[in-house]
Amino acid sequence: MIALHVNIDHVATLRQARRGVEPEPVTAAGIAEMSGADGITIHLREDRRHIQDRDVKLIREVVQTRLNLEMAATSEMFRIAEEIQPDIVTLVPEKREEVTTEGGLDVISNRSVLLPMEKLQASGIRVSLFIDPDPKQIEASADCGADDIELHTGSYAHAFNRHGQNGIKDVDSEYNRLHQASEMAHRLGLKVNAGHGLNYHNTRRICHLPHLEELNIGHSIISRAVFDGLHQAVREMRELIDSEVLPAR
Ligand code: PXP
Repeated sequence: MIALHVNIDHVATLRQARRGVEPEPVTAAGIAEMSGADGITIHLREDRRHIQDRDVKLIREVVQTRLNLEMAATSEMFRIAEEIQPDIVTLVPEKREEVTTEGGLDVISNRSVLLPMEKLQASGIRVSLFIDPDPKQIEASADCGADDIELHTGSYAHAFNRHGQNGIKDVDSEYNRLHQASEMAHRLGLKVNAGHGLNYHNTRRICHLPHLEELNIGHSIISRAVFDGLHQAVREMRELIDSEVLPAR
């Protein structure tokens, strides 16, 4: 079975739009778990644009499945991970100006920056590296002792979302890169995960990647939840207003 880890950053993004108290990411974590998620993924960004430090602490306390903390390989983040003890740490590249994580981690040029991951591993945390499906990055990930890799599916998803004959060729070539990357990573003893840009259309094919163990999916699930829940939410507000102004029968 392929595990589904639900990324709930997008719930925090909505809350931070008002810097208020709702929607509460801790509640989202509970509902995701009750609905079958095998794990909860959160990204504590250096600029704290969505998930906040208090979210990480509270979510660690309530999560019953697995907590995957995505973070940049900085001393501040390594310190937080040591304190929080998530089940998995996924190291990702981070640029302040980006909208979301663009491109995978350059493991080859950042070997020394990744060294503190050994301390996390010694305390029982699994360390995963978010990389492009590039043989050199996979080799470097195995060399530096990572437990897992998470293959960046963004280029595949982008190609899938484009239409036309060219789009199909691009999808095939992006899928083949992911396929070869999975085979190689497995041969080198790495656990294979994947994520980024996956939605209700392009995830089907990804499920057939060899050796795939976990998917991290966020934006499309939270987007779908907006529409799945809108009907009920409007009806409840309609009823609330009516209950105040219409005489009770
Ligand atoms: N995996 C990683 C490493 C990510 O950075 C993200 C985005 O936060 C995801 C998976 C989930 O991507 P999406 O929100 O597009 O499903």
